[in-house]
Amino acid sequence: MKRPSALVDVFLVLALLSCNSWTTWSSSERCSPIYVEDIRPHSVSITEFGAVGDGVTLNTKAFQNAIFYLNSFADKGGAKLFVPAGQWLTGSFDLISHLTLWLDKDAVILGSTNFDDWPIVDPLPSYGRGRELPGERHKSLIYGYNLTDVIITGNNGTIDGQGSIWWSRFRNKTLDYTRPHLVELMNSSRVLISNLTFLNSPFWNIHPVYCSHVTVQNVTIHAPSSSPNTDGINPGIGIKTARGRGGYVRNVYISKVTLDNVDIAIRLNGLYKEHPDDDYNPDALPVIERITIKDVIGENVKRAGLIQGIKGDNFLDICLSNITLSVTSKRPWNCSNVEGYSDLLSPEVCDPLKESIFPEHITDCYNPENLLRSSSTRNEGSSWLLSWREEGLVSPSILIDNRGEL
Ligand SMILES: *[C@@H]1O[C@H](CO)[C@@H](O)[C@H](O)[C@H]1NC(C)=O
Ligand SMILES: *[C@@H]1O[C@H](CO)[C@@H](O)[C@H](O)[C@H]1NC(C)=O
Ligand SMILES: *[C@@H]1O[C@H](CO)[C@@H](O)[C@H](O)[C@H]1NC(C)=O
Ligand SMILES: *[C@@H]1O[C@H](CO)[C@@H](O)[C@H](O)[C@H]1NC(C)=O
Ligand SMILES: *[C@@H]1O[C@H](CO)[C@@H](O)[C@H](O)[C@H]1NC(C)=O
Ligand SMILES: *[C@@H]1O[C@H](CO)[C@@H](O)[C@H](O)[C@H]1NC(C)=O
Ligand SMILES: *[C@@H]1O[C@H](CO)[C@@H](O)[C@H](O)[C@H]1NC(C)=O
Ligand SMILES: *[C@@H]1O[C@H](CO)[C@@H](O)[C@H](O)[C@H]1NC(C)=O
Repeated sequence: MKRPSALVDVFLVLALLSCNSWTTWSSSERCSPIYVEDIRPHSVSITEFGAVGDGVTLNTKAFQNAIFYLNSFADKGGAKLFVPAGQWLTGSFDLISHLTLWLDKDAVILGSTNFDDWPIVDPLPSYGRGRELPGERHKSLIYGYNLTDVIITGNNGTIDGQGSIWWSRFRNKTLDYTRPHLVELMNSSRVLISNLTFLNSPFWNIHPVYCSHVTVQNVTIHAPSSSPNTDGINPGIGIKTARGRGGYVRNVYISKVTLDNVDIAIRLNGLYKEHPDDDYNPDALPVIERITIKDVIGENVKRAGLIQGIKGDNFLDICLSNITLSVTSKRPWNCSNVEGYSDLLSPEVCDPLKESIFPEHITDCYNPENLLRSSSTRNEGSSWLLSWREEGLVSPSILIDNRGEL
């Protein structure tokens, strides 16, 4: 999505999961919690693999070797790769299951400015070509495929894509392939991304695709407002689809987001008529339902919301709560083919969403806090996430259960 002003702070965005509400896990992983970093029985520092944090030395091999080594602990509770303070220049590397990538305070993973360090990979199977150019695409800086139990976190360390060279080459149309993301996870489940800062992504920052049980919490994402397509979390506070795209986006929970200088604060777009080719089935209608967005503050926002469902295929149970936006447009909301509810909105929301959530429609609105609170099991969880799940979400969050190209 073109997001012309990309100074976006996502202070608390996260996802969580309640066993009974999901059916896609294989029986072996059913209901197992994500474990946080400190319960990983093994930990190594990237420096043990020859990495040099001088901002100049290329450390791709060090990351690859460290993760290759840690793979031997995957069936022993997993392992942690510790990245200490320093400027760790690297090209793309692959994550593995049962891994925690931990960035300490003042640790900066710097994306290489040499395009060759971002290999060419297949396009998304559901898209069939690169998003921006035909053919293949560059691999994200941090990539994962077919993984489970992956944590990328730290003490507000930074992942900096040094994207400006990609932006200029995009603008002057001299790229050969679609630009890379900072983090992409494909066909994966139980992913936690938290407590980090993302800067200057070449393209989108965080892209979970064909994934379930994805939590993104307490991250800060910055890029210059002029940078092209530096979406924060895609899907995040914008969802794009169209007749012919099929698939679904459901059970998404987004909360505590601060937006600065954005064009459209909330954008659910069912008229995103961009198809990889003309050979799509116009009867493949996407299902967009149970999207909750709450506790949003926006300063210097042009328009509050552009929420356009598809004729004959309304977006359902779109719930907006406690959203305060200082907007410049005289017509802040523009909604069509959408059904849902709202509470505490400023400026006043569009007619289709005017009906109050409270008290009658609480259960129509997706809210993992309620799911979590209704969980009956209670014991002192051995892991943080387990206890988090059982005590209910103290901090609101975003839940993304995303399959299909968005
Ligand atoms: C995906 O991972 C599972 C185990 O987690 C493995 O059995 C399967 O072969 C993997 N599939 C691919 C395509 O890598
Ligand atoms: C968010 O991250 C910051 C920096 O890492 C940390 O100090 C703070 O405790 C985190 N807040 C929450 C609610 O996790
Ligand atoms: C994390 O670091 C970023 C950039 O260094 C900063 O903007 C942000 O305020 C920090 N977040 C916290 C919670 O300390
Ligand atoms: C495109 O931009 C890049 C980076 O600024 C520059 O090196 C290159 O010369 C430009 N190419 C053209 C054809 O303008
Ligand atoms: C990954 O997901 C895509 C889209 O659902 C699917 O086409 C593909 O077969 C999946 N791959 C694996 C290994 O599960
Ligand atoms: C974020 O950091 C804070 C402070 O260290 C910690 O309490 C919290 O558990 C972390 N959250 C996640 C989701 O990693
Ligand atoms: C509304 O959201 C703001 C910002 O997240 C939060 O500080 C405030 O407590 C929320 N108000 C209610 C009534 O939930
Ligand atoms: C709502 O948005 C659509 C698409 O951008 C536009 O065509 C239409 O004119 C807008 N309606 C109003 C009342 O602004």
